[in-house]
Amino acid sequence: MTDEFDPRPEDLKQRVWESIQRDELPPSDDRGRMRVVMNNLVLHLHPSKVAKPTLKFTYTWGLGGLALLLIVLLSVTGVMLMFVYTPSPETAYQDMLNLQTSVWFGQLIRNLHHWSGNLLVIVAFLHLLRVFFTGGFRTPREFNWILGLALLLLVVAANFTGYLLPWDQLAYWAVTVGSSLLSYIPLIGEGLRNFLLGGPEVGAATLTNFYGLHVAIIPLTLMGIVSFHIWRVRKDTLTIPHTVDGKVDGDDGDRIEKVTTLPHLVSRELVFALVMTGAILLWSVWVNAPLEAAANPDHSPNPAKAAWYFMGLQELLLHFHPVFGAIIIPALGLGALAFLPYQRFDLSAEGVWFRSRKGRLIALVSTLTALIAVPLLVLLDEYVLDLPGMMPNLPTIISNGWIPLAVLLLLLIGYYDMIKRLFRSTACEARQGIFVLLVTAFIVLTVIGVAFRGEGMALMLPWEVL
Ligand code: HEM
Repeated sequence: MTDEFDPRPEDLKQRVWESIQRDELPPSDDRGRMRVVMNNLVLHLHPSKVAKPTLKFTYTWGLGGLALLLIVLLSVTGVMLMFVYTPSPETAYQDMLNLQTSVWFGQLIRNLHHWSGNLLVIVAFLHLLRVFFTGGFRTPREFNWILGLALLLLVVAANFTGYLLPWDQLAYWAVTVGSSLLSYIPLIGEGLRNFLLGGPEVGAATLTNFYGLHVAIIPLTLMGIVSFHIWRVRKDTLTIPHTVDGKVDGDDGDRIEKVTTLPHLVSRELVFALVMTGAILLWSVWVNAPLEAAANPDHSPNPAKAAWYFMGLQELLLHFHPVFGAIIIPALGLGALAFLPYQRFDLSAEGVWFRSRKGRLIALVSTLTALIAVPLLVLLDEYVLDLPGMMPNLPTIISNGWIPLAVLLLLLIGYYDMIKRLFRSTACEARQGIFVLLVTAFIVLTVIGVAFRGEGMALMLPWEVL
């Protein structure tokens, strides 16, 4: 037998590549091109062509792709960790010690998983900001924005459930504090907390519940929604970056140039993924994930803080009645975010960072306003104002809940009105100003909670906290 009639290419490299990729002869007609698209793995995930301006790195900052990469890293390292971990209070902490001391590269795998998880919270949040500031949530992408919000909540839930698994003091008390926020939900809060914890306190049942949520339920839901999210990005296409003058960014002509996904987009994605994997690996080689003493339910650390991504909420709780700090204000924030794409907006601002030149100025003013006003309000409430003491006859839910919330909402309305008059701005630019103000306020509250709250949750300087 000779291979005289074998149609496969002679070059071995080419044959191996084709056996994986199913690439065929270059297409010469529409049907041929279609066949290549159908047979190509990359082109199942991406469209065959993308608008050239969307390749500009400083438009998306690669944040959606980075979130995806982190999910892959988390899945791989998470499965490895499962080989050495048993979710029981008797063994969990010892498993962590063994992993770090007796398992080859165990510490590194744990570090990679820990830092990728924390980074994912930040990256998903930054991606949300990018989408908001470039108007990526507008028609037809409203529902994809909602899917994104669900993803952000799932990412936080995955981090929160994973936090408990090392079963050290940090884990035990952060979960005790974090889950106590649930009990402030009227009527069902206590029941919900008991259901999640598997009893009134954090214990063996909590570890089993959190493990199930962390390794199966949350990842499966997350992957399902991520697939839907990416599919929608593909179908809706990415928004096209525009300059403040309304021109397509990075394209001279009026027509938007299209380029083939292979190699233009895929090569950029590969380089970015490699650089980011390298950076995360380096960080994980140098910085170990924290592990404190084994969990001790009888000894609460002082202060007992929630995980860092809940510190903004914990800080709110220090200033408001718990129902407001833990439930009403966060629910209002989430509700406003979910409702955002369904409002009327200025279509011409799509793809323009911060909407317009004026929008940029308003965003800057709003950032500065929040940077100054929030610390001042925190200091005022801490050292000067005592609302429940000033209104002793009123229930605290009114004196320390409804009244300060109403005052803050009035201030916000006043600020919105002032922006509109002072800058003669559109509703779209002024709404963006409010968004920037609130996001900066949330970040400032988180920083205060993490770095400026020490023993007894008293305000102090960062070096006194550490
Ligand atoms: C696990 C989290 C997430 C993953 C893996 C993810 C992935 C992606 C990717 C790969 C893209 C396209 C490229 C890019 O914009 O960087 C994208 C676009 C988009 N994402 Fe996400 N995303 C996540 C979270 C979110 C969140 C939290 C939101 C907002 C609430 C969101 C809303 C959107 C929207 C609306 C687009 C289209 C934007 C446009 O066309 O300009 N995503 N996402």
